[in-house]
Amino acid sequence: MTETLSDPRTLEVALGERSYPIHIGPGLLGDPGRLAPYLAGRQVMIVTNEVVAPLYLERCRAGLPADTEVRELVLPDGEATKSLASVERIWDALLEAGFNRRCTLVALGGGVIGDMVGFAAACYQRGVAFIQVPTTLLAQVDSSVGGKTGVNHPLGKNMIGAFWQPRVVLIDTNTLASLPPRELSAGLAEVIKYGLIRDADFLAWLEQAMSDLRALEAAALTRAIERSCTLKAEIVAEDETEQGVRALLNLGHTFGHAIEAHQGYGAWLHGEAVGAGMLMAAELSRRLGWLDDGDVARVRALLEAAELPRVAPAGMGAEDFLSRMRLDKKNIDSRLRLILLKALGDACLHDATPPETLHALLTQFPRDG
Ligand code: NAD
Ligand code: GLY
Repeated sequence: MTETLSDPRTLEVALGERSYPIHIGPGLLGDPGRLAPYLAGRQVMIVTNEVVAPLYLERCRAGLPADTEVRELVLPDGEATKSLASVERIWDALLEAGFNRRCTLVALGGGVIGDMVGFAAACYQRGVAFIQVPTTLLAQVDSSVGGKTGVNHPLGKNMIGAFWQPRVVLIDTNTLASLPPRELSAGLAEVIKYGLIRDADFLAWLEQAMSDLRALEAAALTRAIERSCTLKAEIVAEDETEQGVRALLNLGHTFGHAIEAHQGYGAWLHGEAVGAGMLMAAELSRRLGWLDDGDVARVRALLEAAELPRVAPAGMGAEDFLSRMRLDKKNIDSRLRLILLKALGDACLHDATPPETLHALLTQFPRDG
């Protein structure tokens, strides 16, 4: 990725006195003074994982004021770490270090670290400050913004959690240079999601820019991250606790979560499952008469350009989908609620899909192999 010294961009998540900035740019990590204004006191714990620590922990530490009392906690990599047991390890480390209510937790890593550290912060001594330093594209465009924090339960993903907003989100786009290509694609799924739900012009731009994004071209990446964060910030400001419009951010997720659970967490990356899920949502929207064949073809082509799956897993039957989709957090009174597309760039929450239409989609959607 080309290192540029272009000016960082700053956006705001407008939540009254809990408002916070999102800083986006190359080389922000380690830039002295970037984190200092957001620390609650002198005690800081950086929590990261074994993959990210050798790459960026030193730089993150270097960005803290010299008089900070810094502790570091390096957890194992992977979705399996997003558990209550790991959160207990964070709390243990905080208590052993004698950290008080004016401490600050820094989440350095992808969405797993960000979600878990945010939840640890939400509960430690009834809530302490935390800062998001996302290092995957998925975390930079989605999970670090908006305050959804939590961990997985053996019976369901993200089932234990809290809304707890960070004090700042620091996005150093240079960290994407070390990201494996498959993880980059997973992040691009969430970028495409914003275009599909709310911004047809952005979607059209993505169709032109996808090869630059895959090649980590700096200006294209910054634009994609900035637009994604702007759209997410708008939605979160409107509906922080998902009483309405925020649910639209779950386009493709009801199908995707079913795929992740059926395959065993980690087999499909979250973004990969969301990619296939968005195509399923588009195809269902076509069957309901809202999209046409050309719209669905555009979604398929964009996913292909982003090197994301366009098929469901081999051997996953309609009932395998339905049994898991019935557990979705969006459902109310056992009514299945899906995010679908009225048009490209215009999503809706729909709870009246005829069961036979859904069943036909789940049966006929192409399978892997
Ligand atoms: P992740 O945190 O597991 O990171 C993916 C992989 O990339 C890991 O192996 C990680 O160690 C590695 N990595 C991170 N940064 C790197 C870098 N710069 N270079 C090289 N490797 C790097 O996964 P993710 O895709 O970032 O996040 C997925 C998680 O986010 C899921 O648990 C999902 O539920 C959650 N999520 C939360 C929200 C939310 O609103 N809170 C939204 C979307 C997803
Ligand atoms: N990633 C979905 C949300 O933040 O609401």
